[in-house]
Amino acid sequence: MDYFAITGNRPLKGVVDINGAKNAAVAIIPAALLSGGICTVDNLPDIDDVASYVTVLQSMGAKCKFLDRSTLQIDARKISSTAIAAENLKDMRASYYLIGALLGRFKRATVPMPGGCNFGARPIDLHIKGFEQLGATVIQEHGVVNVFADRLVGNQVYLDVASVGATINIMMAACYASGTTTIENAAKEPHIVDCANFLNMCGANIKGAGTSVIRITGVKIMKGCEYTIIPDQIEAGTYMIAAAMAGGEVKVRNIIPKHMESLTAKLQEMGCDINAGDDWVMVRSRGNLNACNIQTLYYPGFPTDLQPQMTALLTQADGVSYVTEAVFDNRFQYVDQLMRMGVKIKIEGRMAVVEGPARLTGADVIATDLRAGASLIIAALSAEGLTKISNIHYIDRGYEKIEAKLSSLGANIKRMSGDMPALMEYI
Ligand code: EPZ
Repeated sequence: MDYFAITGNRPLKGVVDINGAKNAAVAIIPAALLSGGICTVDNLPDIDDVASYVTVLQSMGAKCKFLDRSTLQIDARKISSTAIAAENLKDMRASYYLIGALLGRFKRATVPMPGGCNFGARPIDLHIKGFEQLGATVIQEHGVVNVFADRLVGNQVYLDVASVGATINIMMAACYASGTTTIENAAKEPHIVDCANFLNMCGANIKGAGTSVIRITGVKIMKGCEYTIIPDQIEAGTYMIAAAMAGGEVKVRNIIPKHMESLTAKLQEMGCDINAGDDWVMVRSRGNLNACNIQTLYYPGFPTDLQPQMTALLTQADGVSYVTEAVFDNRFQYVDQLMRMGVKIKIEGRMAVVEGPARLTGADVIATDLRAGASLIIAALSAEGLTKISNIHYIDRGYEKIEAKLSSLGANIKRMSGDMPALMEYI
């Protein structure tokens, strides 16, 4: 298994270009099934979750062809099956979007329950409630979700929680439903707007994406389209936090600065200098950081997907910081690994109490999920000596060429093949 070897204490300097948003890509690729035509999707990140989705769509009869590294053509005219084999999904969390897309177009779907993550329960009860309110029958058995409907009729759906996945999934299932579907308490994340824009380019009739009330009026036909997905807010934020952690001056380019506002505000509160242009932000840090408090919230609040990275940064701030995780019920499991590097963090329920600055030293650590892995990389950038991070397949699910991008900024990070050698070999 590959692992990262990182030697810390080097400032970062230079320009890093951000790729397309993973969480937009994993929604828009299955959404192409609704079009019944040929869709060309550009600015896709070269990450494992995109490759996994292409494999799944091909297994269902869709023709997928990469026109270049980041442009995928999906011909969804002939879909041979609405039943997905588990082996094609691996541990993909976002496979649940196949249910909404197939239900919307074919009124049936058989999809294995989505892969979990290592941070608490990841139910899809709100997705299912929405499908049932549109008239579908949902049977969950043997780890598989079966949905079918004679017809889908628009309805009012209230989401108890502003769930990103449920919002997108119900939006997809409603595209052809007769009448109008209203989603109340919808999530407002940028990738929801991106998916709605893609579906509207295909001929759907979706209004209000990006607000808490989304209206979908069913249409009779949809067609293919050409679409470019938005930049990745979380990838961009990860590099902004890395610059603050290592010190130096980094320009993060090909982004939408508005999507970064909650993080920008917090980094400025911590003492970083931040300038922004049309499609870039410049982060300057001299290393001395103020403590600050973070509460994760739904967009436009502070993103839960930057919580692990920010907590790593706060271990270097002067004083005590409080990080409250209000979206997921157990998203601090990565802290055990950070402890191996010398952080001073105490977990009290949904809050992490972070004391800084803590002297970090390199250690052998394990990535437990995608953003936990990013957090370990951030910590390693400030640690004395060598850090080795295993399970980096999690990181490859959401970050394109992270080691090349960090190396180009001056970090000492290498992707090593084979199992991590025992620590003794380095002593
Ligand atoms: C999406 O997950 C993202 N994944 C996650 O990013 C992100 O952390 C999350 O949204 C929140 O922003 C993708 O877009 C593929 P939710 P999702 O439904 O849709 C509860 C990453 O690292 N809930 O918004 O699964 C749930 O338990 C990943 O890129 C229900 O109770 O998240 C959680 O507490 C990690 N019932 C809260 O809502 C449901 O039916 C938010 O979950 C659905 C969710």
